[in-house]
Amino acid sequence: MKFSELISNRYSVRAYKADPVDEEKLAQVLEAARMAPTASNRQPIKLIVIPTAGREEALKRIYNKDWFVQAPYVICACGVPSEAWVRQNDQENYFMVDIGIVFDHLILAATELGLGTCWIAAFDAQAAREVLNLSPECVPVVFTPLGYPDKPSLDKRRKPLEVLVERFDEKSNLAQGE
Ligand SMILES: Cc1cc2nc3c(=O)[nH]c(=O)nc-3n(C[C@H](O)[C@H](O)[C@H](O)COP(=O)(O)O)c2cc1C
Repeated sequence: MKFSELISNRYSVRAYKADPVDEEKLAQVLEAARMAPTASNRQPIKLIVIPTAGREEALKRIYNKDWFVQAPYVICACGVPSEAWVRQNDQENYFMVDIGIVFDHLILAATELGLGTCWIAAFDAQAAREVLNLSPECVPVVFTPLGYPDKPSLDKRRKPLEVLVERFDEKSNLAQGE
């Protein structure tokens, strides 16, 4: 699949089949996440793979939607801020950016394999800590189910480029600062 097809094929899947996902496909998806760039190559990431079967009730404490537990796996991406790169001049910690890139690799690799995913941030973080028995330095950032989609995509609604992009032309001056 071309990259342009991949990014237009990906959508938030909110209905899954219970069909199993091959170990090999799961490994490919995780490998794509592993290959993601992170600031200063710190890799302040922990990916937790949870087979769904038999754990539906506990998982629904984390995110209470039926479709969250329909797929064979749920994956959680945690950040470890204490291991992340921090910009020196203002102490900005980049672990959230690292997680975003890692997770997008994972999600696009899944799309290429015909697997569905959905970024989930609106979960109960305290429940996630308890259910997954996370160590205190681990911050749960995002979840996704991983499985075969049961419903097709809806149309993508996006702002037009003119709204999203500001282009400096040759006459525009950049502020020089002090
Ligand atoms: C960081 C992030 C957090 C999200 N959290 C949720 C969520 O908690 N629940 C949900 O149903 N969708 C969630 N989404 C999915 C977005 O609503 C979805 O990506 C957006 O509406 C665009 O639709 P599309 O993914 O189908 O292109 C999240 C997406 C991102 C990128």
